[in-house]
Amino acid sequence: MVERIVVAITGATGAIYGYRLLRALQQMEKVEIHLVISEQAEHILKNELSLSVDDLKKLSHRFYDESDFYSPISSGSFITSGMVIAPCSMRTLSSIANGYEDNVIVRAASVTLKERRRLILLTRETPLNLIHIRNMESVTLAGGIVMPPLPPLYFGKKTMDELVDLTVGRILSLLGLRSDLLKQWGDNDLQ
Ligand SMILES: Cc1cc2nc3c(=O)[nH]c(=O)nc-3n(C[C@H](O)[C@H](O)[C@H](O)COP(=O)(O)O)c2cc1C
Repeated sequence: MVERIVVAITGATGAIYGYRLLRALQQMEKVEIHLVISEQAEHILKNELSLSVDDLKKLSHRFYDESDFYSPISSGSFITSGMVIAPCSMRTLSSIANGYEDNVIVRAASVTLKERRRLILLTRETPLNLIHIRNMESVTLAGGIVMPPLPPLYFGKKTMDELVDLTVGRILSLLGLRSDLLKQWGDNDLQ
């Protein structure tokens, strides 16, 4: 069976998380990637990674405009295995937390929650104000997973790609997808 995963990239710094996630998902068999990129993320992708929306479209199976409310991901009848927003801006977090479904990213996130599917938000902001924290609480109480991308430093990894991929491995694991990106604690004992 094909696993449909919805991926959204919004306008927080850390576009590399969305990019590396797409690359990892693309290498997996039986995974169908449905991608949306916010207008602000488009600028950040260009600034941080020198990548265009067209470059990222190639890593997906289906791409939707953020204003396309007729897209299948806007409906709960379109079965998916979950949705990841990486990175997730505080604006998008706030819209999800408050049910303000003003674009397809927020609509698809809301659908994911109402259908009781996995929703993972790589929220990117620091430090946090009380409003951010309350929005994170609301999403968590509604069943979402708030996962700020904090790179684990205990593996002695050196490059940014390697650190990002450890977080990507955690996302895949939360989606129930097994990958080689995440070295599990205790793996050394099995070798
Ligand atoms: C270079 C740049 C970096 C930004 N980084 C962040 C960030 O890390 N976190 C965040 O919440 N907003 C950040 N913002 C602000 C968001 O882009 C802005 O709130 C925007 O409305 C988000 O829209 P979206 O959620 O539709 O992508 C940044 C803006 C710029 C221009």
